[in-house]
Amino acid sequence: MEIFLKLDSMNAEKKEKMRQIRDEIFNLTGSPLYKERTKNKVFPVIGEGSHDAAIMFVGEAPGKNEAATGRPFCGASGKILDELLASVNIPRESVYITNIVKDRPTGNRDPLPNEIEIYAPFLERQIDIMQPKVIATLGRFSMNYIIDSFCPDEFAEPISRAHGKEFKGETSYGEVIVLPLYHPAVAVYNNNMKETLKQDFKLLKKFT
Ligand code: URA
Repeated sequence: MEIFLKLDSMNAEKKEKMRQIRDEIFNLTGSPLYKERTKNKVFPVIGEGSHDAAIMFVGEAPGKNEAATGRPFCGASGKILDELLASVNIPRESVYITNIVKDRPTGNRDPLPNEIEIYAPFLERQIDIMQPKVIATLGRFSMNYIIDSFCPDEFAEPISRAHGKEFKGETSYGEVIVLPLYHPAVAVYNNNMKETLKQDFKLLKKFT
């Protein structure tokens, strides 16, 4: 009985901390992307999935569909991500999916260094709260950020060399594995890349 009460209060605390992050991002008037968000009447994308997930995916920033719905990876890249997850029988609801930058950079451009700087502390708090076993980065921006932050002894390699390799990282809650993956967008028109991604996704199975 006592253990269930303890788990309940831990879950409530987690939920509250996540809600706080969401509220702070919704009110992030100091971000240069906040103006765009309100002008275009779109949403920030906080993240989606299980707060108890062992696997956390970190993409770059929301695209048009994501900003319109407030959901990560729900457009063309999301379709590929769903296919990759299905190929290794990992239900989308069992993982957590988020981005470094939580608002859409205007016109689908790459996120700027100052935008990463503004939004990354929210990602770091999400990681701290959820304590995933593995952080699977999607694309080079999230790979560079996560490796720099959590794997201080690693040298940044190009994604063509780093993808599908496991890096050991250190967090406030202990060890985390960082697994760099290509961004699913690379496979939208390229079947060879989809095969490479499928091979790399097999590495996630052991964390489920
Ligand atoms: N690309 C990303 O990096 N993130 C999304 O949420 C969608 C597309």
